Amino acid sequence: MGSPLLWNACAAVVLVLLSKGSVSHGAEFGHLPDNITVLEGESVTLRCRIEEEVTHRAWLNRSNILFTGTDKWTLDRRVTLANNNDSDFSIHVDRVQVTDEGTYICTFQANNKPRITYVYLIVQVPARITNISKSLTVNEGDNVVLFCMAVGRPEPTTTWKDQEYGLMSEGEFLDITEIKRQQAKDYECITNNGVAPPDQRKVKVTVNYPPMITDMKNMPAHLGKTAILRCEAMAVPPASFEWYRDDHRPVESDNTLRIKNEKTRSLLLFTNVTEKHFGNYTCFASNRLGASNASMLLFRPGAIQGRGTALRAGASVAVWFSLVVVFLLKV
Ligand SMILES: *[C@@H]1O[C@H](CO)[C@@H](O)[C@H](O)[C@H]1NC(C)=O
Ligand SMILES: *[C@@H]1O[C@H](CO)[C@@H](O)[C@H](O)[C@H]1NC(C)=O
Ligand SMILES: *[C@@H]1O[C@H](CO)[C@@H](O)[C@H](O)[C@H]1NC(C)=O
Ligand SMILES: *[C@@H]1O[C@H](CO)[C@@H](O)[C@H](O)[C@H]1NC(C)=O
Ligand SMILES: *[C@@H]1O[C@H](CO)[C@@H](O)[C@H](O)[C@H]1NC(C)=O
Ligand SMILES: *[C@@H]1O[C@H](CO)[C@@H](O)[C@H](O)[C@H]1NC(C)=O
Ligand SMILES: *[C@@H]1O[C@H](CO)[C@@H](O)[C@H](O)[C@H]1NC(C)=O
Repeated sequence: MGSPLLWNACAAVVLVLLSKGSVSHGAEFGHLPDNITVLEGESVTLRCRIEEEVTHRAWLNRSNILFTGTDKWTLDRRVTLANNNDSDFSIHVDRVQVTDEGTYICTFQANNKPRITYVYLIVQVPARITNISKSLTVNEGDNVVLFCMAVGRPEPTTTWKDQEYGLMSEGEFLDITEIKRQQAKDYECITNNGVAPPDQRKVKVTVNYPPMITDMKNMPAHLGKTAILRCEAMAVPPASFEWYRDDHRPVESDNTLRIKNEKTRSLLLFTNVTEKHFGNYTCFASNRLGASNASMLLFRPGAIQGRGTALRAGASVAVWFSLVVVFLLKV
């Protein structure tokens, strides 16, 4: 295969010029450069410096002839003759592809002796995320697997990070068993191969859980004054609230009582406390994962210091949290 001109090994000097876009940043490799590294999509000039009078000359890609002198053998339009004179024989490859990676050979005949030089073209591709889990919503206790697919040359490393705690795991998959509500956050996948700045993307994980009432207090109230009962609940998605009186009668707004629902809490606003307002109120918070309730008293301060019934009753309220009696009215 091929002419003897091409296949007899000998030393020659090859000068390599890399060009990035239109800007040429020449790099002289002195004698026998083994590797030339170029980014995919950029262009490269393979330069062969000739120091003596030569008769025949050729550039090959592996065993395929690209040019012999000014004769172009390859059909690839990206390959052109960059220079061909007595001291320099260079070819240019435009928009370098991954498949261009490999050995290129400059060979020529001087004083009837064939000379040959090898150049190994390395094509790099910046690390890039090609597919990643979509942001998702799960229920507390579910097992979650996030994936992050990346490509690049050389092969990139892929890691998962948590903004608070940093590195969580290496590899394309992140496993979270029995996810907890505290693990609802953005998870970041980072891929890097040192060729270009790392590529990174985030996945938002939302964890649903049933309401948990975190704040409720028995409240003292004075006739003719204002008063507030408050029920605070943590929940995802946010809870909806309902209020009931001792006998499970729903509490309804009227000209002395207003229900104010906010994202994480519900307020009972008494604008003018009267006798009928004193009593036991139950806050019921629910979302599609479950419900929770807590009861609290609107009481007359004197009643506690006096017979103490309201206080004892308050202490026995069947709720998950201890109740605190406050004598100051605060929102
Ligand atoms: C050229 O690259 C190969 C593999 O990528 C490596 O083993 C070799 O040491 C490199 N040669 C030089 C001169 O850098
Ligand atoms: C050959 O071309 C190169 C690049 O254009 C130039 O630097 C060099 O002087 C030329 N040599 C001769 C002998 O013409
Ligand atoms: C080099 O050869 C490979 C394999 O035949 C081919 O895919 C690639 O396009 C060639 N590149 C150039 C610049 O000739
Ligand atoms: C990404 O991966 C998912 C799951 O493997 C797959 O269903 C989807 O088609 C992929 N998307 C793309 C753009 O490759
Ligand atoms: C509160 O209600 C009582 C009895 O209904 C009424 O006499 C009083 O004027 C009201 N006070 C205010 C501030 O509305
Ligand atoms: C209120 O919560 C208790 C547990 O704290 C539960 O036993 C009860 O069934 C709940 N009531 C309602 C109406 O959901
Ligand atoms: C308030 O009502 C709830 C629900 O009906 C009940 O479980 C609780 O014992 C009551 N508290 C008092 C102090 O009566």
